[in-house]
Amino acid sequence: MGQPVLPGLEAIARERGITFGSAVQSTPLLSNSEYAAAMRREAGALVPEWEGKWEALQPTEGAFTTAPLDAILAWGKANGRMVRGHALVWHKSLPEWAETALGEGPHRALSIMETHIRTVLRHTRAQIRDWDVVNEVIADPAGSDTPQEGDSAYRDSPFFRALGPRYIDEALRMSRRADPLLRLTLNEYGIEEDTPAAAEKRRRLLELVRDLLSRGVPLDAVGIQGHLQLAKPFRPEPLTALITALRQAGLSVLITELDIREGRDAPQDLRARDALVAERAYAFVSTALQAGVRSVFTWGLSDKFSWLTHDPDVALTDSRTHRGLPLDEHFRRNAMWDALARAFAGR
Ligand code: G3I
Repeated sequence: MGQPVLPGLEAIARERGITFGSAVQSTPLLSNSEYAAAMRREAGALVPEWEGKWEALQPTEGAFTTAPLDAILAWGKANGRMVRGHALVWHKSLPEWAETALGEGPHRALSIMETHIRTVLRHTRAQIRDWDVVNEVIADPAGSDTPQEGDSAYRDSPFFRALGPRYIDEALRMSRRADPLLRLTLNEYGIEEDTPAAAEKRRRLLELVRDLLSRGVPLDAVGIQGHLQLAKPFRPEPLTALITALRQAGLSVLITELDIREGRDAPQDLRARDALVAERAYAFVSTALQAGVRSVFTWGLSDKFSWLTHDPDVALTDSRTHRGLPLDEHFRRNAMWDALARAFAGR
């Protein structure tokens, strides 16, 4: 008789009416049996890490390439997993043709946005019922990792330069017109921690969503990405206040991309590193759940496939690699897994 396998995070979360999911990559999902088994065991919902972005779906104008996204949708359907969409309008992973078109005047900008949004939402309508329609639209304030010059609250992006802040309204209105029952989500980062920059970004976010709602712009939810950094302080109160204010405005709030980045001064000892990651994961997720969040997605399950390991902007510069997800590079459950299980179980 083999060791009974402890229920996965999705089952533990589901017991208390919580959805736990993970970002997923189509290539290993189809080619790596350990990766697929971990997704099946741990994730009750999926979000394509790359396959739902503009560059993946419409790399050249009018030529939609949906096979990688369709592979994730097919796997989700076969395994009874909901898939959420990410991201219709974002300044990154935007193909060059689109960036050029956005510079050719507001009419052309609106036209390519409408075509992209309508085509993608028509294609995924049967299976994806929640999309990050606009992603990372707020300017990073002074004091943040990548501060934007000037005092505009809006990210200086090709969309903003084409249309001003109304590109956000337009993207949301186009999405509502294309699929009236779709949950429209605005997704943001840098709003989680107890720093002056995060406080200012939270203020900007609340001002933005209140303005949108006051003008009748359709918006149903806000995604708090949750790319946490141990080098930054965290206190429950600011996060609780943000979630409470968003929910009082009538919005759902979800955690969309949780992972945890260690500081350059992280200890060498693995157990000590994992304990610090687990402590932050527990504090953040239990605070979010107590404030009413009912969907939590990590940005992947295993360190082996994490952007934290591969992206030079965030990778650790010595021989170590980040341990910011609930499974280590060998798909073994770690202290962060235990912390998430405890938070979902309400312990
Ligand atoms: O460019 C190739 C493309 O030609 C190829 O067809 C495709 C097939 O696998 O891969 C592409 O490679 C990379 C892609 O990830 C898939 O692995 C892209 O070059 C690379 O830029 C892309 O990086 C992703 C990044 O977003 C940009 O889209 C990261 O994996 C992903 O973790 C990261 O996730 C973002 C969220 O979307 C938004 N919030 C922040 C988060 C971390 O940056």
